[in-house]
Amino acid sequence: MHNGRMRYHDLVLEPARRGDAPVLAAMSRDLIEAGLGWEYREDRLARLIASADHVAIVARERRGVAGFAVMQFGDEHAHLVLLAVQPDRQRQGIAVRLAGWLLQSALVAGSASIHVELREANVAARALYERLGFAETMRLDGYYRGRETAVRMIRVLRPPGATPPAWIPPPRSDARH
Ligand SMILES: CC(C)(COP(=O)(O)OP(=O)(O)OC[C@H]1O[C@@H](n2cnc3c(N)ncnc32)[C@H](O)[C@@H]1OP(=O)(O)O)[C@@H](O)C(=O)NCCC(=O)NCCS
Repeated sequence: MHNGRMRYHDLVLEPARRGDAPVLAAMSRDLIEAGLGWEYREDRLARLIASADHVAIVARERRGVAGFAVMQFGDEHAHLVLLAVQPDRQRQGIAVRLAGWLLQSALVAGSASIHVELREANVAARALYERLGFAETMRLDGYYRGRETAVRMIRVLRPPGATPPAWIPPPRSDARH
């Protein structure tokens, strides 16, 4: 960590900005939603970037955005909504680093688990999520626009429902015993 950012050569992981919305929307269209129709357009990405219950991060380098990820935080569970890396920057560990940031955020937020859906044929994403400790929970027929099956995977972070122990204030240092 350096000034709140992670640095690796000239690639920086940082929160997405409003101005990134067009690029992230295009990446979603071409890399995530290809062949399905385009739902994550610029205005939707802008809303996700501004949303208080989502975290959107980018892997930025001098020439532009190399990858990005968006996670939604609920009361008990987190949902990995979008994740993509530019084709010429794939297999260089960028997705692992983006997902690692969000996994750490979910841990700190106290999430019990992280959920993700991926297209059944997406072997790259499946291999990535398995490597990150996700396991398949179910298949959802027609999940994608009624056309394609989704695989839902989950990464458990803590036992569901278990609440952290109540905080007990330390004794006052000037207390007399
Ligand atoms: C899936 C995706 C995000 C992976 O990004 P990436 O930066 O290339 O992934 P990493 O380099 O961090 O890969 C980590 C590991 O995941 C697995 N993996 C990643 N891509 C893979 C592929 N094409 N085939 C097999 N395994 C793959 C490997 O185990 C890899 O480790 P290795 O390179 O040491 O073998 C990227 O391929 C992508 O953007 N695909 C299109 C969009 C998409 O499918 N998003 C996810 C679903 S929403």
